[in-house]
Amino acid sequence: MRNPTSSSSFSFATAAAQQQKRQPTAPVPLSEFGREMQAGLARRPRRISPKYFYDAAGSQLFDRICELPEYYPTRTELRILGECAGEIAGQIGPGAEIVEFGAGSLTKVRLLLDALESPRRYLPIDISGEHLEAAAERLKADYPQLAVQPIAADYTMPLVLPAPLPGAGKRVGFFPGSTIGNFEPDEALAFLQLAARMLRGGGLLIGVDLVKDPDRLHAAYNDAQGVTAAFNLNLLRRANAELDTDFDIDGFAHAAFYNAPKQRIEMHLVSRRDQAVSLNGERFGFVEGETIHTEYSHKFTVEGLRALAVKAGFRPLAVWTDPERLFSVHWLAA
Ligand code: AVI
Repeated sequence: MRNPTSSSSFSFATAAAQQQKRQPTAPVPLSEFGREMQAGLARRPRRISPKYFYDAAGSQLFDRICELPEYYPTRTELRILGECAGEIAGQIGPGAEIVEFGAGSLTKVRLLLDALESPRRYLPIDISGEHLEAAAERLKADYPQLAVQPIAADYTMPLVLPAPLPGAGKRVGFFPGSTIGNFEPDEALAFLQLAARMLRGGGLLIGVDLVKDPDRLHAAYNDAQGVTAAFNLNLLRRANAELDTDFDIDGFAHAAFYNAPKQRIEMHLVSRRDQAVSLNGERFGFVEGETIHTEYSHKFTVEGLRALAVKAGFRPLAVWTDPERLFSVHWLAA
């Protein structure tokens, strides 16, 4: 069942879901995750940001997703980056300073660094400082000529980058993986506007998943091994571990479907029955079929992405795709 509106057991049935006051537990100050979960459970439809997927277990599950036979984006993007590296390097030119947004384990950038002529400096930005430092140390060991300067920060917030090194070439943003698709449309525009300001005089190399056969998209987010389901449900496990919620994990089901008019995969956690969950002294009721929305994964046409980039202040110069046109990598001048 792909569309929540077409199934009786999968509806945004909100009216009957009542919040009741929980008995004695006194509220305590909550973490950012806790505050967002509390607010997300109180609103209709219920939702929580996909950024909370990525605790240690969630990051491991995401790495497994990237290896799945159904999940084509990672391997297709790597193929494009590998096969078109020479052309990409030609666009970027020598001595570049690479700024990677949401750098993670710094694997994809190696393809770029290997192709570029004398890259000068690499500035990976990631919210997870510890993970970033460890990955940066490994990269430094493999690229001794490259200045590597990790920045522990939220890349969606305005950020002052270090001044360019003397004699450096273009400042190039790198944003692979189609993470842009996980933003709301207004957030995607805001991020691109911010990036265009930060990269003025240089450009952005961005990986973007393309609109395609809905069956192919559906399979990529409903894999046969159930890894994506485990990734989605891990959010509730994380909440139980960190927030002292009492989600019954088996009481929720993974649901992912393609919303064609909106050109996006939507992921939800669907309550399998009427139940209630406690968080910080409040009790949140669920009726059977009620959902928590956990992720959008927007898909783009090449033209759509280019139009968005122009709106944000970029000049689209080149785009590379695979022969099946599953995925695209864009070079946008800032
Ligand atoms: C990280 N992001 C681009 C992935 C995506 O495809 O939207 C996250 C993901 N969610 C389920 N599978 C993969």
